[in-house]
Amino acid sequence: MLEIEGLAVRYGAREPVLHAVSLAVAEAGVVALLGANGAGKTSLMRAVSGTVPLHGGTVAAGSIRFLGQEIARANPADVVARGLVQVPEGRHVFGPLTVDENLDAGAITVRSREARARARRQVFEMFPRLAERRRQRAGTLSGGEQQMLAIARALMSQPKLLLLDEPSLGLAPRLVRQIGETVREIARDGVPVLLVEQNAAMALSVAHSAYVLELGRVVLSGPAGELSHSDEVRRLYLGEDVDEGPEGPEAPGDGRAVPQLARWTA
Ligand SMILES: Nc1ncnc2c1ncn2[C@@H]1O[C@H](COP(=O)(O)OP(=O)(O)OP(=O)(O)O)[C@@H](O)[C@H]1O
Ligand SMILES: [Mg+2]
Repeated sequence: MLEIEGLAVRYGAREPVLHAVSLAVAEAGVVALLGANGAGKTSLMRAVSGTVPLHGGTVAAGSIRFLGQEIARANPADVVARGLVQVPEGRHVFGPLTVDENLDAGAITVRSREARARARRQVFEMFPRLAERRRQRAGTLSGGEQQMLAIARALMSQPKLLLLDEPSLGLAPRLVRQIGETVREIARDGVPVLLVEQNAAMALSVAHSAYVLELGRVVLSGPAGELSHSDEVRRLYLGEDVDEGPEGPEAPGDGRAVPQLARWTA
């Protein structure tokens, strides 16, 4: 459904922050994109949603095809109209507006009144808590509820593919699990998800396949189940103690971690 090839993104005259990134999302399921702070996850999302120029950047190379059509330099409204909808990091909701009004704003591109009503029913089924609070101002919702509203608003536009940028950021463990369950449910209902996460444990538990970005390059990719069993991912991203084998443990930050990850894919 989404095919990214050789993508490079740069901001101003600086070195690119993404180099030759290739990634694919199939017609169904969840693809996780993992990586540390500054790895380039959000920049990749921006490239897909056409919003890189709004952040002072450019797509310097590569192609992004969505349902067979090139969108690498399309404008954001055009990308949304094609059914590719992004929930940016930082749970943006319209604070002074109610839950209902936020959802209306998400459905602005849906012409049929009946389709809008159906989307709202589905969204309230998935998020009963929002149904209880439909007349509450979004600014007064808890952080977790705001994140749910941000996702719900995106679903109101009946996307063909959903991009979620760190939906679990700053949430308590119970809510992180709930977000994970929601992502799974969205995919089960037929909307594939590209999920950016620093919470690798959650992301790998809901994803079918995953990519790991390091300093703007894909250093690992494969089925989520396989990645979650790799020693490198367990140690670097899942925070687990892994038996280091005959060479012994590495000091953190000794620069060997990245080449090791790269070797793992080879
Ligand atoms: N608007 C911008 N102008 C200049 N540099 C930027 C801009 N946005 C991001 N960058 C740089 O691009 C690199 C990748 O940033 P990006 O936000 O894509 O990473 P990320 O993986 O999403 O990180 P995080 O986990 O912290 O959200 C970083 O070095 C960052 O400083
Ligand atoms: Mg980010």
